Amino acid sequence: MGHVVIVGAQWGDEGKGKVVDVLSRHVDAVVRFQGGNNAGHTLVVNGEKVVLHLLPSGVLRPGCLCVIGNGVVVDPAVLLEEIDALAASGRQLTPKELRISSRSQVIMPYHLALDRLREAALGDQRIGTTCRGIGPCYEDKVARRGVRMVDLVSPDRLAARVHQLLPEKNGAIQALGGEPLDADAIVEAYRPLGQRLAPFVGDAAVELHRLHRRGRQILFEGAQGTFLDIDHGTYPYVTSSTTLAGGACAGSGMGPTHIGEVVGIVKAYTTRVGAGVFPTEDVGEGGETLRAKGGEFGATTGRARRCGWFDAALVRQAARLNGLTRLALTKLDVLSGMEWIPVCVGYEGYADDDFPATLDDAIPVYEQMAGWTDDLTGCRSISELPENALRYVKRVEELVGVPVELVSVGPGRQETIVQGDLFTR
Ligand code: GDP
Ligand code: IMO
Ligand code: MG
Repeated sequence: MGHVVIVGAQWGDEGKGKVVDVLSRHVDAVVRFQGGNNAGHTLVVNGEKVVLHLLPSGVLRPGCLCVIGNGVVVDPAVLLEEIDALAASGRQLTPKELRISSRSQVIMPYHLALDRLREAALGDQRIGTTCRGIGPCYEDKVARRGVRMVDLVSPDRLAARVHQLLPEKNGAIQALGGEPLDADAIVEAYRPLGQRLAPFVGDAAVELHRLHRRGRQILFEGAQGTFLDIDHGTYPYVTSSTTLAGGACAGSGMGPTHIGEVVGIVKAYTTRVGAGVFPTEDVGEGGETLRAKGGEFGATTGRARRCGWFDAALVRQAARLNGLTRLALTKLDVLSGMEWIPVCVGYEGYADDDFPATLDDAIPVYEQMAGWTDDLTGCRSISELPENALRYVKRVEELVGVPVELVSVGPGRQETIVQGDLFTR
């Protein structure tokens, strides 16, 4: 059987962390393949909340191999903090349980500085990045002037690389009004981080292939969402990586023929953090209600998330771009208590199989679905859902054209309704 890729089908924060945690019970490895600590994936297990930024959401399952693939940009200080925080809570990751690809890129102090300076220089045109150095690090990767994990763990390679690269970086920092950085100070600060991470660093792709040959199940955990994708997202208000399912292969070293299923995680409404077009955004009372009931504040930056209604045109496009085979619908409980729920079924002037290259002028066509009053958080099977909630799920399925095989009715691991074989085997 093929491996499973999980991706966000909107603008991120769909509940990927929760779904990956639920699914990780059935898999032997969970792999992050793109992004960095711009991600914030929330897991709630036995009432305890864990927010992960770099570690894959399989870390709470002892024995599950967690892999940070070559496509990820790694801030070593943040990763170590995360490893230490887990250890402090009683979950000590061993080198058998965490593999960091030696080919992954390292976020350096000048990436953080440049991200902040560029955003400041853009003023009200800013992207609203997480200021974690993600964009500048990917730029350097593509420009072939990155520092890779294999360099970080070797003191000599690290020093040589930093001394070679820093003059140009300092030029850019100073041009934006920042203070130049000192190469020796960077090497001094980063060398011990490399030494601590070294036991975890290795050839992640080889290890994944080994698991594959033994018939083990691998889950690829996407970060961000389809419309933050560098090519297919709402450019330029996007992140700097390929967030689509296709990226799971290049970002991990597995081939497309090894992938069997692609699950799209879809929030029952829509949210977005940062700037950029959002056709179904509700800047009035409706959006305020969603934010309050859904706790829609960023897991990484704490920013209030912009909120709006379910956009079927968007998710249909996500189904095409990712080749979605199943949907997981999250946060359905948040819609309880609304008399009518607007659902965007398409954009004015666009057919179902068409999608505008820019959403700037997209005008949503809404239909109103009747709401329900019952609290859904106790529902554990689809038949326990109130009639109108079930109708909502069926309408999502119909509009997107992909079956909903998991419905999430609360943040906790148990607050989940599972249908279909993927989530039960
Ligand atoms: P991710 O980035 O896709 O992993 O999502 P985040 O963790 O950033 O944001 C999702 C938020 O919704 C987190 O606070 C989760 O604990 C929470 N959550 C996930 N699923 C559900 C659900 O079904 N109902 C409710 N009420 N909260 C949920
Ligand atoms: P998860 O994995 C939501 C957004 C930022 C900004 C844009 C570019 O938790 O779903 P970046 O720092 O990546 O250069 O910022 O992308 N963004 C996210 N929004 N969820 C995320 O991750 C995000 N990661 C980046 O807000 O608009
Ligand atoms: Mg998030």
